[in-house]
Amino acid sequence: MNKKKGYVFVWPISTRIIHWIIALSFTAAFVSSFTEAYLHHHVAFGWIFGVMLGYRILWGLYGPRYATFNTFRLGLSDLIWYFKEKIQNRWRKIPAGHNPASSWFTIIVLVIGSIIVLSGLLLYGVQEAKGIFLFLNKDHYTHMFVLNDVHIYASYFLAFWAVIHISGVLIEQFYHKTGMLFAMITGYKRTDGEDTDISAFGLSASYAFILLSILAFYHIAVSPDSFFTHSRYAPIDYEKEHAALSRDCGECHKVYPPFMLPRDSWKRLMDGLDEHFNERITELNISKSSRESIRAYLYANSAEHSSREIACKMLKSIGSHSPISTSKVMYWRETHADITPEVYKRDSIKSRANCAACHIDFEHANMDDVNIHIPD
Ligand code: HEC
Ligand code: HEC
Repeated sequence: MNKKKGYVFVWPISTRIIHWIIALSFTAAFVSSFTEAYLHHHVAFGWIFGVMLGYRILWGLYGPRYATFNTFRLGLSDLIWYFKEKIQNRWRKIPAGHNPASSWFTIIVLVIGSIIVLSGLLLYGVQEAKGIFLFLNKDHYTHMFVLNDVHIYASYFLAFWAVIHISGVLIEQFYHKTGMLFAMITGYKRTDGEDTDISAFGLSASYAFILLSILAFYHIAVSPDSFFTHSRYAPIDYEKEHAALSRDCGECHKVYPPFMLPRDSWKRLMDGLDEHFNERITELNISKSSRESIRAYLYANSAEHSSREIACKMLKSIGSHSPISTSKVMYWRETHADITPEVYKRDSIKSRANCAACHIDFEHANMDDVNIHIPD
């Protein structure tokens, strides 16, 4: 029996909440992805999106009437017939569950969405050495570029796909006048069929998943070092790591992390200490044995031996050259392109090479976005 005349109750409250959480978390993750400083939030929204997507797949297998995959209409001829009727504006009746177009739409959201979530988690592990896949960083960091492309293109596709979906709903609403816009708000559709009902178990499971996704979000958003975001890399204490490097090279500037330049660059730099950026460093400044030991340490920890994102991107950008200054490298220039030359002239900064002026934890080789502050 239908409770409301002329209408069928198709989407119970939990289905509607799940739908909107999926839509909003994707939008938030998409928007936050454009600012590196919000990577943390991007990951948190991505987790909500992922948990809800996973639940929507379970829902498609075990959920209530109209939501399950076996009620989807995926035949090609159904789809063609549906569009023909729609274009001619003949078929004004909408099915209670998913029509052929929205069946396909949902399947593609689930597939592409899963690709986005998985590639995102892998990318976070491989490139940033963070999160649940951080262990993959060590051996697989060179795949970061491929994963990045998959993640980005899939996300753009899903954003485009969402626009098509919204357009479809608006066409239904204003051209075919089926009142579709309100179905995902009120749960009712103007059509024929039986009302859906949801079991107490289904309802509790839905709320449990909704709660789970919100808790995951909260946990990630408030704690900088959560299970979902902790990093493989601890801050480096160069004094403990290598006393001579910290003492002798740290005399005029903070230690430049060895993983930022390739071995050939360090060789050039160490061979040319008597003309080091207009400074003459002699054996009175740094003894022969210190030099040898520093050189060995720089070689052993050069960019080729690191699986950090920065090392990988520096190497790719440097190619076969061997610059001795990081700020000359194209990757460096690209990441700092938004900073105007005047900024470097400030008394608090003075030089591009004064990395520690803006990267407040530079001395521990930490260049994370949360640790950047451009001084006035
Ligand atoms: C006598 C002072 C002094 C000492 C000692 C010194 N440096 Fe430097 N270093 C400089 C100056 C000055 C610059 C140029 C900074 C600028 O461009 O503003 C520089 C720049 C650098 C740069 C380039 C920074 C960039 O990316 O643009 C690297 C790398 C570097 N030094 C490494 C070392 C290492 C390794 C040692 C120890 C073997 C060392 N320095 C010891 C004075 C020193
Ligand atoms: C005037 C301030 C300033 C100085 C000086 C500066 N940086 Fe940066 N750096 C930034 C800002 C701001 C960003 C973030 C850019 C963005 O995300 O859009 C950044 C980003 C980076 C990144 C990319 C980090 C990431 O995870 O994406 C690296 C690596 C980096 N800086 C290294 C250096 C090094 C090495 C030096 C010194 C040779 C240096 N920076 C000097 C402000 C500065």
